[in-house]
Amino acid sequence: MNEIYENYNHLIDLNQYSVEQWDDMLRLAADIKRNPRIYENSCIGKIMGTMFYEPSTRTQMSFQSAMLRLGGGTIGFVNPQTNSSVAKGENLKDTTKVVSGYCDVVVLRHNLEGAALAAAVNADCPVINAGDGGHLHPTQTLTDLMTLKEETGSLSGLTVGLCGDLKNGRTVHSLIKALSCYKNNKFVLISTESLRLPDYIQEPLKAKGAEYYEISSLEDAFEEHALDMLYMTRIQRERFENVWEYRSQADKFILDTEKMKKAPEKMLVLHPLPRVNEIAIEVDDDPRALYFKQANYGMYIRMALILQTINYELNNSPVLIGELRDDLECRNMKCITRAETYLPKSFKKSVGESGDIYFCEYCEESVVGI
Ligand code: NCD
Repeated sequence: MNEIYENYNHLIDLNQYSVEQWDDMLRLAADIKRNPRIYENSCIGKIMGTMFYEPSTRTQMSFQSAMLRLGGGTIGFVNPQTNSSVAKGENLKDTTKVVSGYCDVVVLRHNLEGAALAAAVNADCPVINAGDGGHLHPTQTLTDLMTLKEETGSLSGLTVGLCGDLKNGRTVHSLIKALSCYKNNKFVLISTESLRLPDYIQEPLKAKGAEYYEISSLEDAFEEHALDMLYMTRIQRERFENVWEYRSQADKFILDTEKMKKAPEKMLVLHPLPRVNEIAIEVDDDPRALYFKQANYGMYIRMALILQTINYELNNSPVLIGELRDDLECRNMKCITRAETYLPKSFKKSVGESGDIYFCEYCEESVVGI
């Protein structure tokens, strides 16, 4: 393990950085979009490694094209079971240790929660979280922030609807955490009872005193709230215990042209994609539908992120900042610490009404003593 105080400019959770730093990155991305030629040689001689343990089109390819457009090169795998030694049983620590020695930055997507932080603990270069299970997806959030900033001119004072799988949707989690750091944003959470936003994401909303509502119908959301943006999401099939549970939740929310007629005239429709059924294809022709443009913004913001990461402009804090405690154990079966048992057990403390509550630093689930 690296010295846990070693500072490699990782991006695990956007909230490691200040709102001013996000705004700087958004400005840089907008400049890159306007003047791409100025940046085309900025990463000559640099290598980005992509380690994708879960399927991806946009995140993986936008990162690759971002690095190529900066003049750098890329290596990596997208299917570890066929083109890496993960198929032979190699653990995340060893793969990260070796790949990070070949690269200037590693981009990791993993099916387990907390995997990006776990990789960062052992990496010899900065690690960027490209999605860790149902936990977080900070670079999708940067994409969403850039889309909102460029299209509405502001990231504050917005009424934001989020619809679909709020429980398992990592894009939703990261986006809510980020938007709640800007002033006067209001959240309308549209989901079934079983797919509500998890407590650990509701906590920051409560702590910041953000106004939010939980609603079970899109029509009600349109009627009761003047939404500036609707963020549609896919029901995350791969996170369900079985197919029946998934089917009981599938197709509950479908945005079609009929519903769009009732939606606010200026409401932007975003979606991290891939779409399954939750937005009818006919909606694509509505000028409020921005999801394809959003995917394109993703490449520019990732160019800005790569540049700032490689140039060490982000001033990161230590990798693990919690208490190392052997008497506590994370009980979340989807947490990386359950699979990679060598990891230092690190917990963050928060003071609750009935005493101290500890949260696993990797997946953020609350834990009990053993
Ligand atoms: C999202 C993801 O992987 O979490 N996709 C993406 O990165 N644009 C959303 C999803 O898979 O539903």
